[in-house]
Amino acid sequence: MITPWNISGSVDYAKFIKEFGIKRIDNLLKERLMKHVRELHYMLIRNYFFSHRDFNVALSDYENKRGFFLYTGRGPSGPMHIGHLVPLVFTKWLQEKFGVNLYIEITDDEKFLIKQDMKWDDTQKYSYENILDIIAVGFNPKKTFIFKDSEYIKNVYPLLLKVAKKITFSTAKAVFGFTDSSNIGIIHYPAYQVLPTFFEKKRCVIPAAIDQDPYWRIQRDVAESLGYYKTAAIHSKFLPPLSGIEGKMSSSFAETAIWFSDDEKNVRNKINKYAFSGGKANIEEHRKFGGNPDIDVSYQWLSIFFEPDDNKLKQIHNDYKSGKLLSGELKQILIEKINKFLSVHKEKREKAKNIINEFMYNSELAKEMWKKQF
Ligand code: TYM
Repeated sequence: MITPWNISGSVDYAKFIKEFGIKRIDNLLKERLMKHVRELHYMLIRNYFFSHRDFNVALSDYENKRGFFLYTGRGPSGPMHIGHLVPLVFTKWLQEKFGVNLYIEITDDEKFLIKQDMKWDDTQKYSYENILDIIAVGFNPKKTFIFKDSEYIKNVYPLLLKVAKKITFSTAKAVFGFTDSSNIGIIHYPAYQVLPTFFEKKRCVIPAAIDQDPYWRIQRDVAESLGYYKTAAIHSKFLPPLSGIEGKMSSSFAETAIWFSDDEKNVRNKINKYAFSGGKANIEEHRKFGGNPDIDVSYQWLSIFFEPDDNKLKQIHNDYKSGKLLSGELKQILIEKINKFLSVHKEKREKAKNIINEFMYNSELAKEMWKKQF
């Protein structure tokens, strides 16, 4: 059973498509999107965003001038790693291209309830820290509302109850794997992750990794009977951990993730020590037979996130495959890219401290949202 909390080990994306009843993002959809955005994001070109629910319908809504809005989120269970950044960067691109409102849910309730040893004060500390990292991504401050569940609850409780009333325990068990020992707080929580899809009387589009899809299935079951649209979603694969391309970078395996707080030395040591290599056993063999970029984590990270330039990526791919580029050299390219990225991110994060209120309380959208009662 796949739930948002239990994905580990190797991930079979084709199986997701089959079992979740979602659709692959095909060339037809990409061409249709191209008409609106002119140039596709490299994460789409490289099939990192690989599947969707009703994204074509959301495009129809856009074409018919009904429009759509964006929604994504983060569970503040600790510091953020670069895997968490991937859906956010793509969300920012969508917001820019379509000029739409974006809601970002910070689920302090979820992480407090699901993690046995999580203290309430820690979820509050991490919420603040994570929000800074999110703001550093560069969303439009006029059109973005970042809200923390425990704080915004007073504006949404009636609608939350209406959503919760539509979801039976038996559905929740089947979708999320709850058992007799699950606490009753977490059993109720999914209603809150569904709720922001009803913030506007338009279709919602949710960019996130595939692990969050179970919530959207529930949403689509209940939306219309509550007078709202079924949500659309666009799914990414996972940024893999350093240890191998098949898994998911996860907070539970600290040493195989890169954290926003990592310094240059840390990054260098981790990549050199842990990044799974597709290179050969020694230089001689590597020069002769070449490396395998398909299983090489450094190459995959460049492809997914750190090298947007198609020509440069192709060159790296060919040089590695031919044996011209050694594993150590490939790692060096990645180390430099990550460190450059992190130093810029850290600066933006510092600046975010001064504008956090803009996103949570003072943006045009936020002001409107604090006045609303759902
Ligand atoms: P959380 O905090 O586990 O993850 C935040 C976002 O990051 C994605 N993600 C990844 N993406 C790529 N590679 C990885 N290795 C990786 N690990 C995690 C997740 O899919 C997610 O998009 N319950 C949610 C919080 C939430 C939410 C939402 C997320 C509330 N509403 C709406 C997405 C959309 C959670 O705990 O996410």
